[in-house]
Parts: sequence; C-alpha cells; structure tokens
Amino acid sequence: MKIPFHKPCINEDEIKSVTDCLAAGWLTSGSRTAAFEEEFKNYIGSRHAIAVNSATAGLHLSLIAAGCAEGDEVIIPAMTHAATAEVVRYLNARPVFVDIERDTHCMDVSKIEEKITGRTRAIIPVHYAGQPCDLDEILSIARKHGLRVIEDAAHSLPAWYRERKIGTIGDITCFSFYATKTLTTGEGGMICTDDDDWARRMRVLRLHGISRDAWDRRNSSRLWQYDVIEAGFKYNMTDIAAAIGAQQLKKLELLWEERKRIAGRYAAAFRGRDEFIPYRIRPDRISSWHLYPVDLNLEMLSIGRDELIEEMGARGVDLSVHFIPLYEFSYYKRLGYSGLGLDNCAWVFKRTVSLPIFPGMTDGEADYVIENLLDIAGKRKK
Ligand SMILES: Cc1ncc(COP(=O)(O)O)c(C=O)c1O
Repeated sequence: MKIPFHKPCINEDEIKSVTDCLAAGWLTSGSRTAAFEEEFKNYIGSRHAIAVNSATAGLHLSLIAAGCAEGDEVIIPAMTHAATAEVVRYLNARPVFVDIERDTHCMDVSKIEEKITGRTRAIIPVHYAGQPCDLDEILSIARKHGLRVIEDAAHSLPAWYRERKIGTIGDITCFSFYATKTLTTGEGGMICTDDDDWARRMRVLRLHGISRDAWDRRNSSRLWQYDVIEAGFKYNMTDIAAAIGAQQLKKLELLWEERKRIAGRYAAAFRGRDEFIPYRIRPDRISSWHLYPVDLNLEMLSIGRDELIEEMGARGVDLSVHFIPLYEFSYYKRLGYSGLGLDNCAWVFKRTVSLPIFPGMTDGEADYVIENLLDIAGKRKK
C-alpha cells in the first residue's frame, strides 16, 4: 500500500466553480472573492474577513495594522513554520522565541511574561496542528502589558477554545488555505478581525495601497482613476482561488468529520501503547485535526525518529515532522538565536512525527499506518 502524507479533497464542485469563473472572464479579485469573504465572515462570526494570497501575507498585514515597526519585538513559539517568524523580520522587528508545552506542542503560556520587554508589541500564538492555545491566559497577559494578539490560525479551521470559535477571540486571526490545509484554495489565506480601522487599512495594503480596487472601480466612468494612500503589497486573492474556496467552505464540516474519524482511529490505536506518547487535546479545546502528531517514547525504543520515518517510507507510508525549531535554521543562527532555554522544543523535535490525515483517507489506510507503526515499535522495543 502507498499512503501519501496528504491528498487534497477536490471534486466536481471545485472544478465546475473554477471553470465557471474562467468562463465568466473576471480572474483577479472580484465578485467571487467578495462573496467568499462574506461567507467566511458569516461562518466564523467575525465583523471582517479579508482574503489574501497566503496566511503569510495575512500575518504580515496584521503586524502592520497592529502597529508593529522596526526595532519592536514580537513573541512567538520557537517551534512553528518559518512564516510566523519571517513576517516579523519583514518589518525589521525581532521575533522572540518562547518554549512550547510537551503534550500540546502549543506555546507555553507560563514562559511568555519573562520575555516581555519595553519593545514588545505583539504575541503570535500558533494553534499547533489545529488545537487552540490557551487564549484567555495569553489575552490577559497581553492586556496587562498593552500588547496585541495576532493568532496564527494556519492550522485551525475550524477549531474552538472554551466554546468560542477561532477567528473571534484575539485581535486579529489569520487562516491559511495552502494546498494541505483543512480548507484549500491552492494558495490563499483569510484575515479575520472585528476592528473596522484595521480592516480598512489591511484591505488597502493588500493591493498596492490603492484606495479602490479594480472591482470597486468597474462601473465608474473614471475606471482608471485611483489614489495610492501608502506603499502596499500584492497580496490580493484571485477569483479563481475564491471559486475553489467557496466550494470548500460549503463542505468544511464534512471535511472536518473525515479528519476527526481518522484522528479517533489513531487515538484508539495508540492508547495504552507505551512506545508512544499520545498527543493531548485539552478538555476545553476542539481541534481541526489539520495534523495528527505522535511523539515517540525514546526511553522505550531503540529506533530514533529519523530512522522510523525512513522505515515507514520503505513500507509505503509518508510521515512528516512539524516543525524543525526555528533556532535550528542557519538564518536564525546567524542572527544569534540558539535553543537555550527552549528545552521542550528540543525534546519534542527529537520525538515527533506527523501521521497522514486527510479527508477521503480510508479506515483501511489508517489501519495500515497504525499496524506498521506498532509493528516497528514492537520490534524495536528496548
Ligand atoms: C503555523 C503556520 N503558520 C503560517 C503558515 C503559512 O501559511 P501560508 O502558506 O498560507 O502562507 C503555515 C504554513 O504551513 C503554518 O504551518
């Protein structure tokens, strides 16, 4: 059997929606993008939803809207995607790395306050694998110190924290529609916020700082006329991407049910198996199950993480690792970062693998992953 790490769930609905868009002849941001924003906003329950061409773009614009500038500091977990940190660097600001929790892989909130200085401007919690961080605690620290909370929700659509939907809690929330995400547009992202002024500014900034985009100007007698209010970016979503997104949003809950089914199967299989350290979901959180992480109990095994991935690959199963801690990268080493005081990141990185999980994965495929993992672990038990 061959089981890829991920397979996108695209069918006739998305294909028809894209061909309709192509036939209609308006390819860039237009009515489809506006409609997708409206539907997304209603689904999440936020005042604004601003479509962009990636979550990275969304995080960048969010930092600008939140007033982050050169020399500022932004607190992020050390174990995240490169995007969470690079957007801070775009502004010549400094990402400040915080350790994670071993069981949830989310930012350890008890380690945030010691990292706050007079230059700290914002906190970017990352809802790892789809499980929300402890947002009440993060928001209370942020409010106490006058900081903004920008949620990196690239993984967490849909997800809930204490019965509130992710996208309605922090100051600004950014979702990713990258190819492997729980809702995909190929590449894309959405920014959610309740703040009218920030929303207005991010809409302008996502398209060159132009006062009115081409869609707004379409019926104007002076189609060519616009102002550039400030130096913006080319971050707008195309109608082709929105055409895919609108269809994916309609079936988001079904796609999520599929992921939950696989996650449930994995959880049941690893229960009571002490070669593995189960990934914990806290009782007050609901995960989107973008990823299914498992940590190896290296104290019980004579096989390491890398060798296990190779062995599973040889048996036809692609595993992945989320994430290589940022301080491991040469760019951050050159800037003087190290893993000092980030012991849980190092601990998790040594042990963690992400198992295949995607809508349409059959129970038989999940069982094949489980059987092979348990077989290898059984043979390599100390
Ligand atoms: C935690 C996290 N943040 C941000 C991103 C960036 O998302 P995008 O590819 O939409 O820019 C990713 C992408 O995988 C991610 O995993």
